[in-house]
Amino acid sequence: MSEERNEWSSNLSFILAMIGSAVGLGNIWRYPYVLYSNGGGAFYIPYIIAILVLAIPFLILEYGVGYNFRSSFAKGLTNINSKFEYFGWFLPFVIFIMTIYYSTVIGWDGIYFILSFFKGWGANPNAFLANNVLHASSNLSDITTFVPVVAVSMIFCWIVIWFISHRKVESGLSTISKFFVPLLFIIMIVIVGFSLMLPGASIGLNELFNPDWSLLGHFDIWMNAFGQIFFSLSLGIGAAFTYASYTKEDVDLISSTLYVIAGNCIFENFAALGVFSILGYMSLQSATPVSQIVTQGTGLIFVVYPTVFNILGDIALILGPLFFFTVYISGITSMLSSFEVFSSSVQNKFHLSRKKTVTILCIIGGTLSMVFATAPGEFLVSVTDEFVNNISLIISVLIECLIFAWVFNIKKLIGFFNARSKVIKIGKLWVIMVRFIIPFILLLIWIGGIYEIIISESTANLIILLCLSIISLIIALILTKLPARTKNWLKIEERI
Ligand code: ALA
Repeated sequence: MSEERNEWSSNLSFILAMIGSAVGLGNIWRYPYVLYSNGGGAFYIPYIIAILVLAIPFLILEYGVGYNFRSSFAKGLTNINSKFEYFGWFLPFVIFIMTIYYSTVIGWDGIYFILSFFKGWGANPNAFLANNVLHASSNLSDITTFVPVVAVSMIFCWIVIWFISHRKVESGLSTISKFFVPLLFIIMIVIVGFSLMLPGASIGLNELFNPDWSLLGHFDIWMNAFGQIFFSLSLGIGAAFTYASYTKEDVDLISSTLYVIAGNCIFENFAALGVFSILGYMSLQSATPVSQIVTQGTGLIFVVYPTVFNILGDIALILGPLFFFTVYISGITSMLSSFEVFSSSVQNKFHLSRKKTVTILCIIGGTLSMVFATAPGEFLVSVTDEFVNNISLIISVLIECLIFAWVFNIKKLIGFFNARSKVIKIGKLWVIMVRFIIPFILLLIWIGGIYEIIISESTANLIILLCLSIISLIIALILTKLPARTKNWLKIEERI
């Protein structure tokens, strides 16, 4: 069987797919709260600096190396030096774990999408979420309590992923991105436009943007800005690497970087306007200060929004489905990109067809994800999220950055980028950023995250985190040691 070559149908499809990968649950539920709780308007200073210092240089680096090798993440790392193969498997496997728990949140959202057509959450959305959807328990002994409705919704999510991913990039990911990403923006504009006209919207917006300049002197706000940019742009997870490997020869990667970052940041700031206008409206209706209503994550999407839809009357029967549909497709487009990182690596090393690899991994992922369709599902999602985001991801990205910037010959990327770039050129400053400044920032974020875990987590959670770490280390070792089923695995093919 010859190697399957995948390519975006156009450079625009690549940019849209990257925006789809970046715009996800993090933009809708995470960003508005991060902005609010980190100084409001004052947060824009560290946020913009994080974009300039971390996001732009790092994304350019990841794109450049991915473009150069035109292969999966694991093969790319192995081709830089075969000693790095182990690491080339560790990160994709961790990202596969992320894909598994991401499907749970998408699964919950799928249930709310159906409910939103008739406000099926009833008069008390908080109790409904806990008793009817999550069956919330943080006790692991309740793991035998299966929640069929969540399981069905999650299986549906895996079927959607399979349906799109098993096709060639040109007909699967390209087509979906071209259609869904613009739709995502259109629906968001409709929702935000409506929210801004609600009575009380200005109360929420004043609360959001009222700058607290004093926070700028705090270390936390800077770390939160870097962490948010990192998470929201899906930096370093191998998605940009993999997607760039499917680009056409003539792609301008610097312009693409800027479009993707602009698209993602516009979307999340737009989402913040919508969320806080709605919170302002709710504050006016319930005579409760915004500071007492504001929340993040599950509480915002599945409690605050249904509560607002209950107050809004019939218009909510349109806005509700639109909102939950937006969350759904933003989740699916992000999940597709993280799934691709592991699946393309497996496909490459074991010389399997795309269809076979995707089918096998969807069955494995879907089966493993059932552990989250149990009473302690929400609790397990949050511990797994902590394992991925605070323990393994940042350290992996730090290692990735060091390998790309110090072992791979990045200087050859400069001429390549500059010859194609119509906007900005890169040079010495970029090299300094990726070699020194970004690794230093990543190290600080990682140490901060680990410290937070050690001081705040219970012993039981620390044991789960340790088990997840050991499992990932072992699986990465097995994948490294298994013999490649293709001679091409060690063959270095570079485009630059
Ligand atoms: N970047 C994705 C998000 O924002 C992971 O959810």
